Amino acid sequence: MAFLKLRLVYACLLVVGALCVYFSMTPFPEEPFIFKKKHGKFLQLPAIDCSRNPPFLVLLVTSSHRQVAARMAIRKTWGREMTVRGRQVRAFFLLGATASPEQMAAVARESQQYGDVIQKDFKDVYFNLTLKTLMGMEWVHHFCLQADFVMKTDSDMFVNVHYLTELLLKKNRTTGFFTGYLKLNEFPIRNRFNKWFVSKYEYPWDKYPPFCSGTGYVLSSDVASQVYNVSESVPFIKLEDVFVGLCLAKLKIRPQELHSRQTFFPEGLRFSACRFRTIVACHFVTPQELLAYWQALEGAREEDCQTAA
Ligand SMILES: *[C@@H]1O[C@H](CO)[C@@H](O)[C@H](O)[C@H]1NC(C)=O
Ligand SMILES: *[C@@H]1O[C@H](CO)[C@@H](O)[C@H](O)[C@H]1NC(C)=O
Ligand SMILES: *[C@@H]1O[C@H](CO)[C@@H](O)[C@H](O)[C@H]1NC(C)=O
Repeated sequence: MAFLKLRLVYACLLVVGALCVYFSMTPFPEEPFIFKKKHGKFLQLPAIDCSRNPPFLVLLVTSSHRQVAARMAIRKTWGREMTVRGRQVRAFFLLGATASPEQMAAVARESQQYGDVIQKDFKDVYFNLTLKTLMGMEWVHHFCLQADFVMKTDSDMFVNVHYLTELLLKKNRTTGFFTGYLKLNEFPIRNRFNKWFVSKYEYPWDKYPPFCSGTGYVLSSDVASQVYNVSESVPFIKLEDVFVGLCLAKLKIRPQELHSRQTFFPEGLRFSACRFRTIVACHFVTPQELLAYWQALEGAREEDCQTAA
């Protein structure tokens, strides 16, 4: 009887062991994805003629169909058509396509009303962020090479367009420039239960190239164009910021700091008008917070910040 029980235990262990081996050996089910530069066609283009009226800075904001409130808040705050120190700043939203005709029609209406949507017909899902970002680079390449700088950022960000413009003017670098929150020593996450899991099949190397956090990075428009140009000869990876890093490595362009002090905050940052006056970007900002922060910043006087800075 005891012997039989032991055999049963062994059998169970064997089954569990076999399952473990099976799950660790079988490749993660994913289809090879060959990136094509001409992936999809433009469905919406923004109302701007860069050759006639070149902006200094173009903000490319990744967005999804449901984030209407975020887009509206951005249009009223940092995405507003602005002139900073005589330089024009414009914001555009990057969108893909959904299967819902209602959502597609709503975005088409929004695009018509505000003239600030760049949309292509790839499937709008989180892990198509690389395609979304490259669509932005493609748009710069084809339609707005006259811009001086491009910033890629997200819809849940605060961006201090004034301070960014000031720092870019002070930096006085017009070509070959790439900056943001630098990530110089990052490694692929091999735990398949992590959101940012990357299989060895997708990325066989042990270390990522230098890149900047996808929450917000800034590049000169020639770099945007070159990133688009080399994108097809770089292995595709769904992590958008790493993919851009691979393109930069190929182009031998190294991301660099914009300021000796930290100005990009990929994590959240507690609001104070004085603090936000001298940062470029911070993450995890709701549309309501964004509107409130903006109002507070416009109301605050610079003199009050002297000691805090
Ligand atoms: C990304 O978009 C392409 C083109 O629409 C689609 O074939 C692919 O399945 C999408 N990727 C994901 C992860 O859904
Ligand atoms: C900016 O750089 C150019 C050369 O690249 C130089 O001629 C010019 O004086 C610089 N301007 C400032 C304000 O430093
Ligand atoms: C794109 O790459 C090709 C070679 O692959 C090169 O001839 C061309 O000048 C590049 N264009 C830009 C805008 O960098």
